[in-house]
Amino acid sequence: MSVKYISKTSGLRGTVNVPGDKSISHRAVMLGSIALGTTEITNFLEGADCLATIGCFRNMGVEIEHKPKSILVHGKGLRGLHAPEGILDVGNSGTTTRLISGILSGQNFTSVLSGDESLNSRPMGRIITPLRNMGATVTSVDGSGCAPLKIEPGYIHGIHYESPVASAQVKSAVLLAGLYADSETSVTEPTLSRNHTELMLQSFGAALTATMHPDGRATAAVAPCRELYGQQIDVPGDISSAAYFIAAGLTVPGSELLIKNVGTNFTRAGFLNVCQNMGADITLENETIQSGEARADILVKPDRLHGTVIEGDLIPSLIDEIPVIAVMAACAEGTTVIRDAAELKVKETDRIQTVTENLRAMGAHIAPTEDGMVIEGGHMLKGASIESHMDHRIAMSFAIAGLSAEGETQIHNSQCVDVSYPTFWETIENLH
Ligand code: S3P
Repeated sequence: MSVKYISKTSGLRGTVNVPGDKSISHRAVMLGSIALGTTEITNFLEGADCLATIGCFRNMGVEIEHKPKSILVHGKGLRGLHAPEGILDVGNSGTTTRLISGILSGQNFTSVLSGDESLNSRPMGRIITPLRNMGATVTSVDGSGCAPLKIEPGYIHGIHYESPVASAQVKSAVLLAGLYADSETSVTEPTLSRNHTELMLQSFGAALTATMHPDGRATAAVAPCRELYGQQIDVPGDISSAAYFIAAGLTVPGSELLIKNVGTNFTRAGFLNVCQNMGADITLENETIQSGEARADILVKPDRLHGTVIEGDLIPSLIDEIPVIAVMAACAEGTTVIRDAAELKVKETDRIQTVTENLRAMGAHIAPTEDGMVIEGGHMLKGASIESHMDHRIAMSFAIAGLSAEGETQIHNSQCVDVSYPTFWETIENLH
């Protein structure tokens, strides 16, 4: 177990290059593995979650090379994977588990997926149900609805699935299984979740359409696919990682940070809207789009923040940023209300609970609710002993809180940042 000590600082200044986007890195390895030809991925996130995805595909016979500046995935084609040796180890990664289950549903071999304690307690019924409707043979080995999951060969039908949750992982599992189906597969979700799978499937040559309905629901439909074709993918910086430094730039007096090459796809950029709604002055520079994915440099300086309400359609576009938004809300004037975010309970930890416990330890006023939290800002934070519970986003959010709190903050099990941001601690050091 490692502990990091964070003290109040007189400002963070400089340029930050956040690591590549986690969601896009996973998808690039997955689609590259089942495409024909080679996929070259630059700015790939070398975090534990994405390395788990690489490990799974290597175990199914895909050659994946680490070059100094890129990853080369030598794809096997849609039907070229082979049976893995032993279990497929998905580590802490929900994205690996749920997306790969869609791909495995279409294979003619049996596989078993299993991860760490946190992963093996997260709900998998949300993918088991639609995949079974498609004809897949997916079972929770111990009957708990969680991993380990066993996936046996099945005949895959195209279906229409009305997803009860706006979850990109559920949507992606169904669309990826749909590549192997006998007719079109479509998924409608209550609100559009991150659309990286749809954009990347299109660029790899799948016939995919995306439709927004007037009531805010969203549908993606994919046709059965003969083959996908390898691509060059330059992964933008992860906005979920950038969020920690945007929050630091806003809440630590004396800061000035330029965060380069951040993915700003609108299905992910709700955090930027919240910053603006809280009164922050953030500037986007050098805005471009590559392979359908928007990116920009973000300039941030401290500002007086005020409370806001975060709810409804905005939630899926910032779900992973809620722990750091809670920290910003504690530093802001007035009350912030977060609702419609019950999904927080099924992340790497129950983040309603872990945010509440740790913000309270720092002296903030926070009341957890069934689907979010209410934070009354304006109470000076004080350094505290923070238990990350091995949740990378809790560790990083409270490190940011520690930078403006009175006294010392200790982040326990700080090594868990390796999941999505292995260089996080060095980056903080270098900006002092
Ligand atoms: C992800 C989707 C989100 C997000 C997770 C990554 C993805 O999960 O929280 O960190 O890459 O598809 P849900 O689909 O469960 O909302």
